[in-house]
Amino acid sequence: MKKSKVKIFRFDPSIDFAPRYEVYEVPYEEGDRVLDILKYIREELGVDVAFRYACRSRFCGTCGVSVNGKPILACWEEALSKMIIEPLPHFPIIKDLVVDRSFYDELIHKVYPNLIKEVKEEQKLEDVNMNFLEKIEPSKMNDVIYFQQCLECMLCIAACRTISSDLNYIGPVSLMAAYRACADPRDKGKELRLKLLDNKNACWRCHYVLSCADVCPMGLFPPYAISQLRNMIILSRLKNIRLKIIKLMDGLRFKKSYVQ
Ligand code: SF4
Ligand code: SF4
Ligand code: FES
Repeated sequence: MKKSKVKIFRFDPSIDFAPRYEVYEVPYEEGDRVLDILKYIREELGVDVAFRYACRSRFCGTCGVSVNGKPILACWEEALSKMIIEPLPHFPIIKDLVVDRSFYDELIHKVYPNLIKEVKEEQKLEDVNMNFLEKIEPSKMNDVIYFQQCLECMLCIAACRTISSDLNYIGPVSLMAAYRACADPRDKGKELRLKLLDNKNACWRCHYVLSCADVCPMGLFPPYAISQLRNMIILSRLKNIRLKIIKLMDGLRFKKSYVQ
């Protein structure tokens, strides 16, 4: 059996002054996952290291950690002979490898990721009737189905170079959620979402470094969603300019006919 030399980040903000690293030697076999190593350290070596997991099969998206500087899902990534295991960057630490994801979890809800059936001027989005029974051509749902695979594991947030220099950027997960809803032919909330995302902390902040796509365990490509949202925003702006010009022309025509 091979041995993995594991250096683990330890920090409990409620009692520790500063983080520290502990080193362990863990036996492992070909195909063992990072999560197996963490469980061994906790269960066999009796170390009270905190980490999060649930499904153990790349489904719940909760077991994200950083291994040798790369954000990974612990249940999915194979263990290596030398590993530095740390919490995901860009998140506050709750304890050891467990981070507080609530900020980005809440951001997803702020971009209205659910479909909106009809929005009247005076209505709040929360009050809109959400029953959808109409049938849709499957070919029109390709982007929606593709981005529905997102586990909301936040690895792309941890990898995003823009977030590392600007925590105001809302990041790829909420932008993807917004695009998924905007791309759905049944949705009527596109304009509202686009207005919300047309600013320097949302759609226009992504630099297309693509590090989010490099780490996605589902092989998704968040920059595609972001570029599609940008296209939608530009089209929406052009549509509004056109409407303004038409209104202006109508006004001028009316004035002219009134004078004659
Ligand atoms: S896009 Fe990929 S990395 Fe990002 S949250 Fe979704 S599944 Fe995770
Ligand atoms: S492509 Fe955009 S969202 Fe992805 S890592 Fe780069 S800046 Fe972040
Ligand atoms: S434990 Fe659920 S995705 Fe890893």
